[in-house]
Amino acid sequence: MDEREQIGWRAADRKSIHERIFALRVRDLRVSYEELLVLDGLDLELERGELLAVLGPSGCGKTTLLRAILNLVPFSGKIEIGTSKLGYMPQRDTLFEWLNCIDNVALPLLLKGIDKEMARKTAMEHLRKVQLDDWAYNWIYELSGGMRQRVSLARALVTGAELLLMDEPFSSVDAQTRRSLQLLFSHLVAKEGISVLLVTHSVEEAVFLADKILLLTERPAKIRSTFYVPLPKPRGIETLSHQIYQKLVSEIYREIFSTV
Ligand SMILES: Nc1ncnc2c1ncn2[C@@H]1O[C@H](COP(=O)(O)OP(=O)(O)O)[C@@H](O)[C@H]1O
Ligand SMILES: [Mg+2]
Repeated sequence: MDEREQIGWRAADRKSIHERIFALRVRDLRVSYEELLVLDGLDLELERGELLAVLGPSGCGKTTLLRAILNLVPFSGKIEIGTSKLGYMPQRDTLFEWLNCIDNVALPLLLKGIDKEMARKTAMEHLRKVQLDDWAYNWIYELSGGMRQRVSLARALVTGAELLLMDEPFSSVDAQTRRSLQLLFSHLVAKEGISVLLVTHSVEEAVFLADKILLLTERPAKIRSTFYVPLPKPRGIETLSHQIYQKLVSEIYREIFSTV
């Protein structure tokens, strides 16, 4: 048995295709911006309740992958989404400075025509989930970077999202805040059973949060390797000292730098 088998990297392969329910399936996805080929035939599968991290160098096409899934750019290939309830958390938050926290979170509900009282009640429940209910009536400019990201997360989930697309959501905050956001996030999505496609350029973040990791090549992006992360969820601080965590982080770095 090789080392990879020992730490269970192939665990997901043991499930038969009939036992899997997919939140997202992408086949032979190609995207170009005019002459520039960005995604060159990507295949991916995200099972319901799973967190799939897409890891790749800057400029390889990670954001473009999310844009294609959101149908914001023309593409060829096939994208099947197993739910109509999509949430999206962009890299830079798009919170409105002139609204308080609760109204920022309530906004997607108001846009759907839900009345204000109901929308605020649901928004408050979601602020509680990200531990910001005490800040509901504060203005956005009063919040720290990490708190803004928590409000963004609450807003991405407020319409009952079953599939959450995230674009480097924790990259704009300091290391300690980033870790506490990851911990909160890991608990929240595990509890709610949300499927997540997480784009990141951080190897450590991918291993810390994901069930499965796709490593992309430089642009035009293809899938370079797939890694399974058989660590118990939700992840905690103890995950960092787990042998599987440490082995995977170094294995992925070895893979990234193997051709340099
Ligand atoms: N709207 C656009 N028009 C033309 N080129 C773009 C556009 N958006 C992104 N690109 C280019 O496509 C490539 C992939 O971009 P992106 O998906 O943002 O990469 P990543 O998110 O991995 O950093 C980059 O070379 C970028 O300059
Ligand atoms: Mg990007």
